[in-house]
Amino acid sequence: MKESDRSSFGSKFGVIVAMVGSAVGLGNIWRFPYLVGENGGAAFILVYLLFSVLISLPVFCAEFVIGRRGRASAVGAFRNLAPGTKWYLSGFTSILAVFLILSFYSVVGGWSIKYMVDSIQMKFSAAAAGTDFGASFSGFSTGIWEPLIYMFIFIIINAGVVIMGVEKGIERFSKWMMPVLFVLILVLVARSAFLPGAGVGYEYLFKPDFSKITTQTLMAALGQSFFSMSLGMGAIIIYGSYVKKSDNIASHSVITVGLDTLFALLAACAIMPAVFSFGVEPGQGPGLVFVTLPYIFSNMPLGSLVAFLFFLSLLLAAISSAISLVEVMASFLIEEMHCSRRLAVFISILSQVVFGTLCSLSLRPGSPLTIGGMSIFDLFDKISSDYVLTIGALLIVLFVGWKMKKADYMDEMTSGGTIHLPKWIAETIYWLLKVVAPLAILTILIFS
Ligand code: PHE
Repeated sequence: MKESDRSSFGSKFGVIVAMVGSAVGLGNIWRFPYLVGENGGAAFILVYLLFSVLISLPVFCAEFVIGRRGRASAVGAFRNLAPGTKWYLSGFTSILAVFLILSFYSVVGGWSIKYMVDSIQMKFSAAAAGTDFGASFSGFSTGIWEPLIYMFIFIIINAGVVIMGVEKGIERFSKWMMPVLFVLILVLVARSAFLPGAGVGYEYLFKPDFSKITTQTLMAALGQSFFSMSLGMGAIIIYGSYVKKSDNIASHSVITVGLDTLFALLAACAIMPAVFSFGVEPGQGPGLVFVTLPYIFSNMPLGSLVAFLFFLSLLLAAISSAISLVEVMASFLIEEMHCSRRLAVFISILSQVVFGTLCSLSLRPGSPLTIGGMSIFDLFDKISSDYVLTIGALLIVLFVGWKMKKADYMDEMTSGGTIHLPKWIAETIYWLLKVVAPLAILTILIFS
């Protein structure tokens, strides 16, 4: 396909907004803090940072290169770049990943809507300061209908956006809401810092205890890094396919990975001091953020207003991420199965409703929806990042490092020699993705 045949982002800024929009979402605000709590704090964060620079950044560039050079979504891009080979099959891991992720993502997206509604009802105002927010979260999330209804609302909003093709509108929206989310997190970080006993939280965040690192921790950190940066499942391949040849892949990748990491770290700095100050159990899993935030809101001036703005901007961040997930599934169905756009989105809604419902109901105490003692929610959450995204990312770096010609990689990174990218940067990223990333990913996969 010629450049002019495929629509492109209007500006560099638009590309960055879309990529950051995909990357920053529930992964940063909801998933990262709860994994930090489950995996012992500072040591996990250090490993996460190391993996993000040495592994995820090169994977990001690799997906970008495949997308822009292949000019199609995952399966098609592999087919265009390696015609007549079986490489296109690796695109199918992305469909599995989308399907698993969208199921629990919709449930948590629904939780954010519920908390937004609660904040309108002043449930996090100073008057609510004595409430047991842990009990109210588990009462809500283990219920039957309420979480399902909110999940459904999330799915419909998301599908509406994709069907009407108003992603552009969402981009315009996220352009404003992302900075709002950012500022609000800073406000929460500041409020948390002055809570009594906040020091214990900082110690937890910044004083690593390396005895806490197990192969399971390494796997969780790697999987989370891919999840948070939307890697290993073709989202960046698709976005990359819309990017103009003159755009600088390395700098877009560094900006997106950097901002994503910043959001995650700040979220942890907002949550953890409060966790220790209010005596919340750090290792309680997916509920952590929803239990902890209300304590902060109800202990600050204008708490209800801050809470409302926070959950609204979190919702928008979640939608701009979910759009990219639906887009991966939709473009696969459209390009490979020749479905219409409407049918493709309908199929995605159907799968979200059915499997999202199973995820949500699996959280009920004594629910039979468990496999090997794990709820389907936890199972989908863990398997998707730890295995499916990780294997997807491995195939992506192997493709760019070993199947593609190095000259083609260089050509993409330097936009055909039109932009000046210092040679050592392009080389370093190349060796990271050719040797370091595959070896590290393989080692972690084998030993866990
Ligand atoms: N990165 C998104 C988040 O942090 C989730 C996501 C994963 C989106 C994979 C697209 C692909 O919430």
